[in-house]
Amino acid sequence: MNYAPLQGIKVVDFTEVQSGPSCTQLLAWLGADVIKIERPGVGDATRKELQFDPNEPSYYFLQLNSDKKSLALDAKTPDGKEILTKLIKEADIFIENLHPGAMDKLGFSWEAVHALNPRCIYGTIKGFPVASQYANLKAYEPIAQVTAAAASTTGWFDGEYNIPTQSGAALGDSNTGMHLTIGILAALIQRQHTGEGVYVYQSMHNACLNLCRIKTRDQLTLDKIGYLTQFPQYPNGKFGDCVPRSGNIEGGGVLGWTYKCKPAGQYDSEQDANNYVYVILQRGAKDFEAFCKATGFTDWLTNPDFNTADARDRNKQAIYKRIGEWTADKTKFEVTSILGPAGVPVGPVLSTKEIMTDEHNYDGNTLVKINQGGNIGEFVTVGVPFTFSNYQPTYGPCPSLGGNTEEILSSLGYTADQMAQFKANGTTAPMPKPAADSASK
Ligand SMILES: CC(C)(COP(=O)(O)OP(=O)(O)OC[C@H]1O[C@@H](n2cnc3c(N)ncnc32)[C@H](O)[C@@H]1OP(=O)(O)O)[C@@H](O)C(=O)NCCC(=O)NCCS
Repeated sequence: MNYAPLQGIKVVDFTEVQSGPSCTQLLAWLGADVIKIERPGVGDATRKELQFDPNEPSYYFLQLNSDKKSLALDAKTPDGKEILTKLIKEADIFIENLHPGAMDKLGFSWEAVHALNPRCIYGTIKGFPVASQYANLKAYEPIAQVTAAAASTTGWFDGEYNIPTQSGAALGDSNTGMHLTIGILAALIQRQHTGEGVYVYQSMHNACLNLCRIKTRDQLTLDKIGYLTQFPQYPNGKFGDCVPRSGNIEGGGVLGWTYKCKPAGQYDSEQDANNYVYVILQRGAKDFEAFCKATGFTDWLTNPDFNTADARDRNKQAIYKRIGEWTADKTKFEVTSILGPAGVPVGPVLSTKEIMTDEHNYDGNTLVKINQGGNIGEFVTVGVPFTFSNYQPTYGPCPSLGGNTEEILSSLGYTADQMAQFKANGTTAPMPKPAADSASK
């Protein structure tokens, strides 16, 4: 049986850029029918951001909009409002991520949509929680990271690169889309009991902060005792009154670090910034023994400077040094194959190239190849990140801008004449540019 969990669920997708589209793409891959509303002639901003070909949608757009239908619709025209109203009346879910206040201005606030269709769940993404002093700000990824303690706690802790640093992972964007998806799915279950749709408000700030709870844990500890044993600054460095940046520490109570290795593999060279491996020393005596035996550092087992977890915290710099010397003449893959079987948590630092050329990752979910056809052909994207025992998603192409407009309008009962009028009055196609006025020249 291949049973799409969200089959029959209709989503009106008024989102663009990354946060909202990542949510609606996941809903589509789980089987929902997603209609993406796009401004006629303009479309989602990402269609034309970072294009590799001026005539094709960018990989940015392609990564986030597969398996949706595109309706070109100007929701500011009277006809556009009528069409959107009809769609909402049939929808299970309405999702938007316009700038604060924009949906109210368009006439499709939560209250308005709820009055049109009380069963419709309304998902919204904004930069900040309603109560925030920043609630009215527009937001993109870095704004979420810098305001949610992600950037202030990421990066190097000394030297000229001791500056707030963004994560390469989209904590503010796709992560927010995933958080909203959780809220939407919970609302769907809730609706089975109450019969009513609800308003699900997800801020990028809170999605990002939700991933920073170990940093709030550290702040509480710092407030209590004034130092953090897992940080490289311990025991000899100074701590201030807030959680500092911590380089590549593991983050919990176990001792982790990145170690330089010798070059490896097709994409590795002396210059490659990714000839590193991550190694973790767990706190338990048995785990430490396994590590010492695998590396040959058995002298540490009887040395009081290293044979307890607390001693290792105090002497972590000596540990970093010795393990670094041990890894220096091995590739990151060799280190992994020595320590992994010994039960030591270890992993090679992999580049995007290494991940995307690893055929093991094309398992139907991890990475997927989508055939877009035309000049684009096949492209790779990240699939549904979890697996279902009874459902395998299929991955289809992204729509062209307004590519499903006629199909959607005729399903709403509009005639060919009406559709022609919508095109002419700017509702579903850009208004023709006024002809140049020759008299004025
Ligand atoms: C991303 C963001 C910064 C972009 O702001 P922006 O450039 O002003 O673009 P928006 O899409 O929000 O709105 C632009 C205008 O297009 C209008 N618009 C968008 N789609 C439309 C449609 N189909 N029909 C008619 N008008 C439309 C909006 O109503 C708005 O009009 P207004 O300025 O008169 O109010 C902003 O939308 C935002 O902060 N969103 C919330 C957080 C978020 O999701 N950020 C993106 C993370 S990836």
